[in-house]
Amino acid sequence: MDTAPTPPATARTFSSLLVTGGAGFIGSHVIRRLLRTQPEARVVNLDALTYAGNLANLKDVEGNERYTFAKGDIRDADLLQRLFSEHEFDAVIHLAAESHVDRSITNPLAFLETNILGTATLLNVAKHAWTERGCMDRVLFYHVSTDEVYGSLGDEGLFTETTPYDPRSPYSASKASSDHVVRAYHHTYGMPIVISNCSNNYGSHQFPEKLIPLMIRNIVDQRPLPIYGAGINVRDWLWVEDHAAAIDTVLQNGWVGDTYNIGGLNEWRNIDLVHKLIELVDAKLGRPEGHSKALITFVTDRAGHDLRYAIDATHLETRLGWKPSVTFEEGLANTVDWYLDNKAWMDEVTSGDYQQYYDQHYANRG
Ligand code: NAD
Ligand code: TYD
Repeated sequence: MDTAPTPPATARTFSSLLVTGGAGFIGSHVIRRLLRTQPEARVVNLDALTYAGNLANLKDVEGNERYTFAKGDIRDADLLQRLFSEHEFDAVIHLAAESHVDRSITNPLAFLETNILGTATLLNVAKHAWTERGCMDRVLFYHVSTDEVYGSLGDEGLFTETTPYDPRSPYSASKASSDHVVRAYHHTYGMPIVISNCSNNYGSHQFPEKLIPLMIRNIVDQRPLPIYGAGINVRDWLWVEDHAAAIDTVLQNGWVGDTYNIGGLNEWRNIDLVHKLIELVDAKLGRPEGHSKALITFVTDRAGHDLRYAIDATHLETRLGWKPSVTFEEGLANTVDWYLDNKAWMDEVTSGDYQQYYDQHYANRG
């Protein structure tokens, strides 16, 4: 079978979309966007509502008659089969995953189970359902992945789509593995797939265990700001709404079988980014300049901490015409405003399970 990437004849439109992990950070932005840009499509959000999934992220679309929430696990093949036969999906946008590197270090098996077995279960059910319906030529399985599959860069260079996979954390190994399984379904069974690998996202509704919302929260509350190691690790940050726009672009126009790196050429050392956040949050709260700098606390480095990620998104830009819409200054200011204006959201998502995790992992680090 010829499985070289092929372009769609025209931009794709859909009537029934399954989004997995839609109650999480990126998924909630994707759902909000697809309800706008796919005006004919019904959208089912399948999410297990783990500690990271929160329906508060989607309050504004709850009343939309084209939107349905289904609580469940992507490893539950019976549930998936029921959803496929009830809704006759013509595309799957797969985001459900365990997503936090630190948690993957303390509990790797949960990552292998959800990210690998969950993805394989979803692929398998999709394959059977679409084969039975005889619609394999009109459907799409879109797998949302990370640049962390490529490993860690030194001071120079960027990840491209041909960079060899070299995952180094249980999280990135599980995502790399799921990418391979998705490609295997394409090459072996002819399933139409696309994959995108994105750099670190920031924006509203991100669970405050990830660097940016964690730091904003702690600056507001005047708690220690834990910097792993010397703070010299580099991440390449992209505004989540630009990631959602890129996903939408790939969904509509991505070549079947192709892979797209997504990033905004926006590299920051962690320590510099934390200084920037201190400046923005202190200014917003009317505190004197530099007020929260004393909260910076260097803590034991993350095990196997990848030094640097940086994405070359030329392929996506030239083939499909996507570009980020905001500068980092604009995106970060918008993000800080959102967290300051949505303290109730922060309190809600950190009230339960996460609070215990936070206490166990960070309480004695300051
Ligand atoms: P998140 O942790 O905020 O959300 C994940 C969602 O998946 C949650 O709503 C959770 O309840 C759900 N989920 C977890 N296990 C599940 C299961 N077994 N069955 C059903 N639902 C389950 O993650 P995110 O940051 O929004 O990331 C979404 C996707 O994008 C992930 O696949 C991640 O690997 C990828 N990604 C994230 C980033 C980033 O910077 N956050 C960058 C690139 C790629
Ligand atoms: P994170 O947001 O967990 O994303 P990822 O590990 O997927 O890149 O971390 C971003 C960077 O910030 C990473 O180099 C680890 C570092 N970091 C800290 O220094 N302190 C923290 O408390 C956290 C959560 C992360």
